[in-house]
Amino acid sequence: MDARALSPSVTASRDQLDSLAVSNRHARARIYLQGAHVLSYRPVGAGEVLWSSVRSAFVPGKAIRGGVPICFPWFGPHPSRPDLPAHGFARLESFALDSCVDLPDGRTVVALALSASDRTRAWWPHDFQLRCTITVGPTLDIALAVTNAGASVLSFEAALHSYFDVAAIEATSIAGLQGGSYIDKVARGERNVQAAADLRITGETDRIYTPHAGPIAIADARQSRRIHVTKRGSHSTVVWNPWSEKAARMADFGDHEWHGMVCVETANVGADAVTVAPGATYEMGVAIAVAADDAIATAVD
Ligand code: BG6
Repeated sequence: MDARALSPSVTASRDQLDSLAVSNRHARARIYLQGAHVLSYRPVGAGEVLWSSVRSAFVPGKAIRGGVPICFPWFGPHPSRPDLPAHGFARLESFALDSCVDLPDGRTVVALALSASDRTRAWWPHDFQLRCTITVGPTLDIALAVTNAGASVLSFEAALHSYFDVAAIEATSIAGLQGGSYIDKVARGERNVQAAADLRITGETDRIYTPHAGPIAIADARQSRRIHVTKRGSHSTVVWNPWSEKAARMADFGDHEWHGMVCVETANVGADAVTVAPGATYEMGVAIAVAADDAIATAVD
């Protein structure tokens, strides 16, 4: 990474995995080049918004557990090749720094890019360009643009698999999913409709709400805050918490950490897979904002 390419608010760290630390008047963030992966986002005056595991690996070619992994070009296990990486290969590949700019209003914009290579073609025989634009300000904005660089139609699944930090899952509720039809992966893919106004997580939860495009608000009563998740170009929303038994089976997930996290993912998966004509670009994105609200404690706890 060329230090001259960095804006004044950004410093680079070299470890087993290269990362960028952003610190501006609005927030701090850490972004790994592997996977264009935002690991941490902390607005000024607020606590950490994104969850990450103390057991996460930070080694080349292993997925980081937490933050906002990018799932591309498939979601979950590969449909026919279980030997291929779960959630695709984007989170395992090192992106290149494309640009890094401090805006006059104090926000920082970091753009990272990945193109098809011999390695990605061995997993997925298509030409593509990914551009992930991360804006760190009072809101964290992540945009993923996928360009079809090949000569035939490109079809893919994708997700911005955001992990959120909550103080206690039993004192957390998720608004914005009422009436939503979902595929319940914990119940062998059964289709259900959420009747309740708010989703409370009371056991292993792995749901794909589809179609679902609207805004979500995660009320975290014990931290008296609400995390607002506003999606663009996304027609599915995934909600995941492994709960205790599944977490215990995962090497990179602390046995008790399920209690302090929930994933609400900006996705286009299954029937919402995206099709892009040659030369065209599809963009999906998410804006993540946190707002203090002392009234939540009595409403949710
Ligand atoms: C979620 C999926 O998005 O990611 C779950 O819906 C999956 O089924 C979870 O278990 C974690 O996946 P991974 O590959 O990061 O362990």
